[in-house]
Amino acid sequence: MAIFFYSIFTLSLIASAIACDRCLHQTKAVLFTNASALSYGACGYGSSATSFYNGHLAAAVPSIFKFGSGCGACFQVRCMDGKMCSKAGTEVIVTDLNNKNTQTELVLSSRALMAMANKGMEQNILKLGAANVEYKRYNFHLPKY
Ligand SMILES: *[C@@H]1O[C@H](CO)[C@@H](O)[C@H](O)[C@H]1NC(C)=O
Repeated sequence: MAIFFYSIFTLSLIASAIACDRCLHQTKAVLFTNASALSYGACGYGSSATSFYNGHLAAAVPSIFKFGSGCGACFQVRCMDGKMCSKAGTEVIVTDLNNKNTQTELVLSSRALMAMANKGMEQNILKLGAANVEYKRYNFHLPKY
């Protein structure tokens, strides 16, 4: 039993030492209207990326982009404004690097931004062009033992 708990403890230490990918993060997500630029971004997906997740594309800061290994990483993003946004949020996929706007960890395509909105609120969130969000990497798998 002690060994069992010890391994759980060690596992969780290892997991938290790996940059906390699957933790909940908060940031201000901003809009980037040129989805095509995101699609042709640093990950090099080209035109194919516009169809990923319905065009829910994101440019991520270097800590997520990780010299390209963060490309294709999927995140659940939801905006914190309960009036404007749904609780469920939406999924986005990393297709580009954001190393210009240090105020935000995620730059989102307009489709991604709108997908977080409640019905009828899509234009409101677009007009704001930004939203306080929480996001979490959602397809993280613990290694098998
Ligand atoms: C959008 O991005 C693409 C790809 O980088 C670029 O060719 C195009 O000129 C941009 N469009 C606008 C309106 O800035």
